[in-house]
Amino acid sequence: MRKRDFLSTEELGPEGFSAILDLAARVKRGEVKGGLEGKIFAASFMDPSLRTRASFESAMFMHGGHMIVLEPGRGSWSMETELGAVMEGTAVEHLIETSRVLGRYADAIGLRVFPKGTEWVRERQDRIIKDFAAYSEKPVINLESARRHPCQGLADALTLREKLGDPKGKRFVLSWAWHPKPLPTAVPASAAIAAAQLGMDVVIARPQGYDLDPDDMAVIYQQAAANGGRVTLANSMSDATVGADAVYVKSWGSLQYFGRPEEEKQYRAGLRGWKMTVDGLKATKAGKGIVMHCLPVRRNVEIDDAVLDGPNSVVIDEAENRLHVQRALLLDLIGRK
Ligand code: CP
Repeated sequence: MRKRDFLSTEELGPEGFSAILDLAARVKRGEVKGGLEGKIFAASFMDPSLRTRASFESAMFMHGGHMIVLEPGRGSWSMETELGAVMEGTAVEHLIETSRVLGRYADAIGLRVFPKGTEWVRERQDRIIKDFAAYSEKPVINLESARRHPCQGLADALTLREKLGDPKGKRFVLSWAWHPKPLPTAVPASAAIAAAQLGMDVVIARPQGYDLDPDDMAVIYQQAAANGGRVTLANSMSDATVGADAVYVKSWGSLQYFGRPEEEKQYRAGLRGWKMTVDGLKATKAGKGIVMHCLPVRRNVEIDDAVLDGPNSVVIDEAENRLHVQRALLLDLIGRK
């Protein structure tokens, strides 16, 4: 039987997406015990993590399995990711051997690899996670790549279902926020795709120059059309949040300036007003719109303390849901049937 990878939520299709969320809800209610006894998940983190690492380790332990964590270049061999590379530099081991060898020890393997911030034309191909999956004999879970963070997307979807009831037709605002650094677009793209998969009224608010990749926008439009939702664009956070059921605050770097951080920094300097404040909250539906963020969040830069610590914020529940959707995902991919 062909192995199944988990590289994006849209690959699950409508039934698969719903089934994982349903299983996550059951798992969260304590209705599913065990299922991963003797199973091993090996994850390679080329970039830092708190939630992804800790929630996967917890998930494996809770269901009787074990997780191996590797950090290439920090305790395990530094990894070359370029196919055909002449390995004369610092990298000691190639992605090809890493994925194949880990697959001999583990039932599923995972990789976190952020874009390097040099050329979007290359990064947008998301080659590293795709190559890792292509060479692996075992299912590969995307722990955040250049283009997708599907585990975050699942957790976002579960949170929307829990907090809004049926999210279909409800207003989901993804709003850009100012941040001192240009961050990857994987989270905002995945969050908007997940909201579109739920059939929500998706609004993407961003300053000029901060459009998501056109292929990601195409997926968001396709998913909205397929699931009875719609997508609109907005140029102002404060206008977009009016009547919102959910506001997903997230910063991302300009793809227009990708690879030119100094130029982007100057341009971004004029955008500090893009921040979630208590006044912004008042504009949401009856002032009760939920505020989401994938975390880590820069307090009082992206979102004010009063918002994060107030009743509208669901960021901690959203982070908790990483655990439950990943428990469901692991059970589905490698669990004992
Ligand atoms: N949201 C998220 O993926 O968090 P980490 O980067 O801490 O894993």
